[in-house]
Amino acid sequence: MGNNNIVLVGFMATGKTTIGKMLAETLDLDFIDMDQLIEEIEGITVNNIFTLNGEAYFREKEHEALDLFRKSENKVISTGGGIIISADNRRKLRDIGKVVYLESSPQWILTNLNRSETIRPLLNETNPIDKIIELLDKRRKYYEEVAEFKVVVDGKSLSEIVNNIISIIRP
Ligand code: S3P
Repeated sequence: MGNNNIVLVGFMATGKTTIGKMLAETLDLDFIDMDQLIEEIEGITVNNIFTLNGEAYFREKEHEALDLFRKSENKVISTGGGIIISADNRRKLRDIGKVVYLESSPQWILTNLNRSETIRPLLNETNPIDKIIELLDKRRKYYEEVAEFKVVVDGKSLSEIVNNIISIIRP
C-alpha cells in the first residue's frame, strides 16, 4: 500500500496515544488520535459520550470516524481499544494502513491504567483486573486478526517500543 499510514491498535492503556505521537515525530508523519477526533466532532469527552448516549452510540461515531481516513496519507493513527470489535472496522483498518498491535498483559495494562489520567468508562471500577482479563480474552483474536505486525509493550520504555515498531514495519 502506498499511503504510508501506520495504525496502532491494542487494548486500553497500552500506550497507543503516547507511542503514536512519538512514532509520528520520529518518522515525520502527522499524528491523529481517534478518540480525540471523536471528542472534537462531538464536543464532549468519550467518557461523557458513554454516560449520556451509551456505548452503542460511541461505536457508531467510531465507525463513522474511520471513513474520514480513507484517503489519508502519511499519518500515524491511534485507535480506541474497542475499534476492532466490528468486522467492518477491521477491514477498513487494514485498508487504511499498516496495522500494528501493541500487545500487553492484564497486569501491565492495570499498571498503565493506574498511571493514566484518561477515564475509561469500561474500566471504571476500583479494581478492574477481572474486567481487563475478561475483555482482553474476548478481543485478543480480533487484535491478532487485524494486525499485520505485533509488538509486545510490557516492561519496555517508550523509545524501545517506537524503535521496535520502526524495525518491524520497515522491510
Ligand atoms: C475503549 C477504549 C478507549 C475509548 C473508549 C472505549 C474500548 O480508548 O475508545 O473508552 O472499548 O476499549 P483507549 O484504548 O485509548 O483507552
